[in-house]
Amino acid sequence: MENNHFIIARTLHVIAVVLWIGGVAFVTTILIPAIRNSQSAENRLNLFEVLEGKFSFQAKLTTLVTGLSGFYMLHIMNTWSSMQWWVYLMIFIWSVFSVVLFLLEPLFLHKWFHRQAKINDERTFLVLQVMHIVLLSISLIAIFSGVAGVHGLFY
Ligand code: HEM
Repeated sequence: MENNHFIIARTLHVIAVVLWIGGVAFVTTILIPAIRNSQSAENRLNLFEVLEGKFSFQAKLTTLVTGLSGFYMLHIMNTWSSMQWWVYLMIFIWSVFSVVLFLLEPLFLHKWFHRQAKINDERTFLVLQVMHIVLLSISLIAIFSGVAGVHGLFY
């Protein structure tokens, strides 16, 4: 029975990661470059805020499901004191996104970005793109090492 719960948790974990990091990949590799190439500065900011705003709810929900299913699996495995390094990496990237989505963005990041984009929109979108590339790269390393770790590459 517990084994079935573990399998379901792992499945939900992977679905949540696909939706979440897939969305981050879309924003990083398609949305931001397309917006940076668009004509007027006013358009750029409006378009980005509307589209990113739509993704924000999905990102929060999938971050929540990823964390709940991940900690549930650790609870069933009872390996808190002997976690592999790649589980620490997953928890690290999850913590970074959680702090950004649930704390920094509503408290200050959204207003800060809006203000900076009004002052110098080209530079602000460049910084935004670099930040997204860094987060996406670490997420992909976490996915690589998670799958490789589960299937025994590091043993
Ligand atoms: C609180 C955060 C997280 C926790 C506690 C957590 C925990 C876990 C655990 C316990 C497993 C199963 C390990 C095993 O079967 O031996 C797992 C698998 C996995 N996790 Fe996470 N994880 C978290 C966040 C993430 C994030 C942020 C990502 C992606 C960026 C991720 C991607 C994966 C992947 C791809 C697998 C492998 C699935 C498979 O091949 O079966 N996890 N995670």
